[in-house]
Amino acid sequence: MINNELIKEVEEIFYSDHSGHDFAHTERVMRLAVKLAECEGADAELVALAALLHDVDDYKLTGKSLGGTERARALLEKYGYCGETIELVAEIIRTVSFKGKDTETPGTLEGKIVQDADRLDAIGAIGIARAFQYGGAHSRKMYDPADPPKKEMSAEEYVNSRSTTINHFYEKLLLIRDLINTESAKLIAVERHKYLEGFLSRFLAEWNGEL
Ligand code: ADP
Ligand code: NI
Repeated sequence: MINNELIKEVEEIFYSDHSGHDFAHTERVMRLAVKLAECEGADAELVALAALLHDVDDYKLTGKSLGGTERARALLEKYGYCGETIELVAEIIRTVSFKGKDTETPGTLEGKIVQDADRLDAIGAIGIARAFQYGGAHSRKMYDPADPPKKEMSAEEYVNSRSTTINHFYEKLLLIRDLINTESAKLIAVERHKYLEGFLSRFLAEWNGEL
């Protein structure tokens, strides 16, 4: 469905990332997004393409500002996609990412699905593992009871936050279930959310010497 060379180029972009944005994340998002597209009656090819490219312009990888689409556009042009597809994919990529309370909802069903799949990969067992991987890669403390979570952060505050990994659960991960766009993704989110809550209560009980 998607050119193998394009997939390989995207894989190379994420080759040296071990901070929660490795290519395996992109592969999981693609697989889940295509499954959601089938359940929701969306354009599976557009969904797969946007999922494949959804993180190539991430500011943490490119060092550029939030919401860029240059790298995705260049790849789509290189592989001969038409202008209409390029615009649709670029708009999905721009709107998909989490930006605290400045987070946007994509205008198309395909965008909503990619956003859901990306968010689902941030919760559940894999989401927990990614959060601690990110925390380690960015020299964050796991937990500090003297540093409470901040709610309602703006995009700028979220990007510049130096918070602990446990705070990230309250600042993002536990908010995801109620931000999901599609019914098919909601069913998965409910299960993964419960898993987060179970993990947190166990973590805090062990921290406090209650278990
Ligand atoms: P996405 O791939 O959904 O755009 P992000 O770029 O926000 O996600 O983050 C990538 C991964 O790193 C996610 O699993 C996210 O939960 C995790 N992460 C991001 N910021 C933090 C943080 N401050 N502490 C712990 N984990 C984080
Ligand atoms: Ni992502």
